[in-house]
Amino acid sequence: MGNLKGRDLLSILDLSREDMEQIFHLAKNLKSEYYAGKKIHDYLKGKTVALFFEKPSTRTRISFEVGVYQLGGYPLYLNAQEMQLKRGETIADTARVLERYVDGIMARVYSHDTLVELAQHSSIPVINGLSDLEHPCQIIADYFTIIEKKGFRKLKVVYLGDGNNVANSLILAGAILGMNVVCSSPFQFMPPKKILDEANNLAKKYGGKVEIVEDPKEAVKGADVIYTDVWVSMGQEEEKELRKRVFPPYQVNKELVSLAKEDVIVMHCLPAHRGEEITDEVIDGPNSVVFDEAENRLHVQKAIMALLV
Ligand code: CP
Ligand code: NVA
Repeated sequence: MGNLKGRDLLSILDLSREDMEQIFHLAKNLKSEYYAGKKIHDYLKGKTVALFFEKPSTRTRISFEVGVYQLGGYPLYLNAQEMQLKRGETIADTARVLERYVDGIMARVYSHDTLVELAQHSSIPVINGLSDLEHPCQIIADYFTIIEKKGFRKLKVVYLGDGNNVANSLILAGAILGMNVVCSSPFQFMPPKKILDEANNLAKKYGGKVEIVEDPKEAVKGADVIYTDVWVSMGQEEEKELRKRVFPPYQVNKELVSLAKEDVIVMHCLPAHRGEEITDEVIDGPNSVVFDEAENRLHVQKAIMALLV
């Protein structure tokens, strides 16, 4: 332990394969200790972690808040709407002030640049709790869940739907972990070219594969994991009508799941829009692991904070 200390986690690209394995290892220990009755640790004893939110959250807020508490620290919830930011104070000045008071910042923001600015103007670790570009803590927890369910081996991981923040992190992390990642999105909602290029380079390095398969039925053939997310992310509300017209062929329903491997696991970062990107039948069905996935946010983020902060 130690090489992650003090570092930021803004993107999956901030982590090497070894860093990810180190996080998985500690998360696994913390989870078994939790189940054995040892919930409280002192990794963050005497430390404060600011939890800064520009957007709503259920899982991220609660798992980080509970996680900091269980690591012996103090979680300070900050709603951007109630700060002087609302009246024009800059992110840079906010960061300079925060670093005088707290030991780490977890931030959920609209623009990824806000995270970069927070990190540039403070010397303490900044952790991305979702931006328009990535959702790295979600995806590290998701690969932890995948490995827990399927073992650490080359798996076919298929993402269906919007090429959004969650998709970007899933593709990048899958490439680093040597997975066979397939992204199936309508042409105009593919992940950004820059992300796909980075992922392709990483896949070459780590022996995995990244493919774009526009046809969802073709994409899910032989899948070990099917992953989807909402069609309209926070901040995209004005595109709602267009998106609802384009995405229906990518709905994760029983018919689509039946084309994958019989023991395929179905994942969704939640919150789900039931009846849109995923049907009740699938999310509540035998292949779904969505609530185990949500639970693992707690264990994995505790590991991330214990290593970084
Ligand atoms: N998956 C996730 O980040 O959920 P919240 O928006 O509830 O935090
Ligand atoms: N892509 C979604 C994820 C929510 C956890 C969003 O950004 O709103």
